[in-house]
Amino acid sequence: MDPLLSELLTRGVLEREQWRELLSRRHQLDRAALFALAREIRARWFGNRVYIRGLIECTNYCKNNCLYCGIRRGNSHVQRYRLTQAEILACCEQGYRWGFRTFVLQGGEDPRLTPDWVAQVVREITRRFPDCAVTLSLGEWEREVYRLWYEAGARRYLLRHETADPAHYARLHPPAQTLSRRIACLYDLKALGYQVGAGFMVGSPGQSDDTLAQDFCFLQDLQPEMVGIGPFLPQHDTPFAQEPPGTLEDTLLLLALLRLTLPAVLLPATTALATLHPRGRVLGMEAGANVVMPNLSPPAVRESYALYDGKAATGVEAAEHLADLRAQLAPLGLTVAIDRGDAPTKRPQQS
Ligand code: 5AD
Repeated sequence: MDPLLSELLTRGVLEREQWRELLSRRHQLDRAALFALAREIRARWFGNRVYIRGLIECTNYCKNNCLYCGIRRGNSHVQRYRLTQAEILACCEQGYRWGFRTFVLQGGEDPRLTPDWVAQVVREITRRFPDCAVTLSLGEWEREVYRLWYEAGARRYLLRHETADPAHYARLHPPAQTLSRRIACLYDLKALGYQVGAGFMVGSPGQSDDTLAQDFCFLQDLQPEMVGIGPFLPQHDTPFAQEPPGTLEDTLLLLALLRLTLPAVLLPATTALATLHPRGRVLGMEAGANVVMPNLSPPAVRESYALYDGKAATGVEAAEHLADLRAQLAPLGLTVAIDRGDAPTKRPQQS
């Protein structure tokens, strides 16, 4: 085994220089052995259970102008929409019947989305579905807003850090958005008691072995309960339209390395990965992932939530096809759990 991999396994952490070295030779690693190890570690924490989360894309209005993202403010070709509370609750109703016990409310940073409005929906979902978890993924807000939502019943928050290198962050975002602010939000969320999800795109323009090394060091420090990674995929109406996409190989390698670094982490095989390759989900699972987030949004708006081109929104990506997902996972010896799927480190009866 690679000496740095053994050190990662025995010490649990690597220094930045070591990460850079390991990452620089990642394509020479024995992938079959690495993936088998990742699956073994996953099994130790999760058995054969895969968790599902119903993703509800609440709004595609966004005040930000991230250079990679299809729903950036500057893209006038998007048909903008905002779901009503009733529509969101109807998605949950439907999802509950299909077996979802976690609902993820995701959206752009919509200036018309008020903290109270969100708190109200969260309260209503937790009242109607007391055995379900509510995850929010609504971008950067003040700590007091995160507190309000926690008090309303939200227990998880997804906010990818996108890159832990400040110069790289500045290449991906306009000056109004800073890495330090993003990181402050993640630590605020942690301090409030949320299960936190960070993450980054694989192969985003300007990413290097060194920026990735910083991502791994950052994740070692933050110790998030979840890490979302997927390939960068160009969107034709963004400044990055002509940039090459991230690769399948890299995404799978990084998933496996994340499983080794944070053994108990919730690791989704993302929609972007499924978009890049028809068997992306399954390959992600074989590399150590253990979460799938099918789309529960009303079919009529799914196309408008186009962060990147070609987004998979049908078949196994769609929540109505859970049976297909089960059939895909069965040959891998995995079963879909009808369960909130809390992080192993946060499992007690903390509602
Ligand atoms: N390709 C892949 N992922 C993207 N995201 C946004 N735009 C793209 C893209 N073009 C990811 C970002 C964001 C998450 C919601 O989607 O990492 O945090």
